[in-house]
Amino acid sequence: MTNRRPIGIFDSGIGGLTVAGAIKRILPDESIVYFGDTAHLPYGDKSKELIAHYAVEITQFLLEEKNCKAIVIACNTASAAAYEALRDTYKGTVPVINVIDPMIEEVIADESLRNLGIIATKTTIASGVYQEKLSRRKPSLHYSALATPLLASMIEEGFYNNTISRAVLAEYLSDPLLSGIDGLVLACTHYPLIKDEINAYFEGKVKLFDSAEVVARKLQGILEKEDLLDRDGSPQDHFYVSDYTAAFEAATRIFFREKVKLELCRLGLDR
Ligand code: DGL
Repeated sequence: MTNRRPIGIFDSGIGGLTVAGAIKRILPDESIVYFGDTAHLPYGDKSKELIAHYAVEITQFLLEEKNCKAIVIACNTASAAAYEALRDTYKGTVPVINVIDPMIEEVIADESLRNLGIIATKTTIASGVYQEKLSRRKPSLHYSALATPLLASMIEEGFYNNTISRAVLAEYLSDPLLSGIDGLVLACTHYPLIKDEINAYFEGKVKLFDSAEVVARKLQGILEKEDLLDRDGSPQDHFYVSDYTAAFEAATRIFFREKVKLELCRLGLDR
């Protein structure tokens, strides 16, 4: 019975739909409840405290009102700001999965990497979470972390695969911090949308890591281990946003690879 409960997934906006899409491809029988906090987008320039407040309220909504059996923080910025607090609060009740740790595992297992770049929002980079985990887990790996604050908003606005996105990317990716990298972590769940452009910039010579599939596989492993997989196969998905615009709904087709119906749910997150 409990296995039929949905998986709760959230992000600041619709970027986390890249993770939700990967989850649905790997686990098609699972129901999901997605929450995009579009009223407070972007998270990447907000304080850790404010993001943690949003993350706690959204998680409560997913657990208490939507009865979710697992929580996926499909946002690097919220993972950096609130994962430990959420994990500790719900320990022993529901698994909480963040997007950073599965990516760290993926990167440190790759023996071919020598010089890694990380691009993410300002808050993710300033949190030092990637840097701290990489230094601790694989001191031999050289890394550089660069904040690329325009990218998430640019993508939410629909600017990708065009001259503007190419110009912005060229400006960021030519930063001396990234010179000589052989791998690049796309440490924001919006960035899979510009993966091809980043690949083209580096002429395919830099290995790109994006979290969507890595996180979906991690979730699959946890649901299997905890015997929480839904084996009945009649999934029902819901997609909530804290501020509705037709542009968001149109963009879901690109992020989720199919158009979804967005439902408005304000949650009273402002204090
Ligand atoms: N997609 C989010 C992330 O992974 C954040 C984008 C934002 O709201 O700034 O960091």
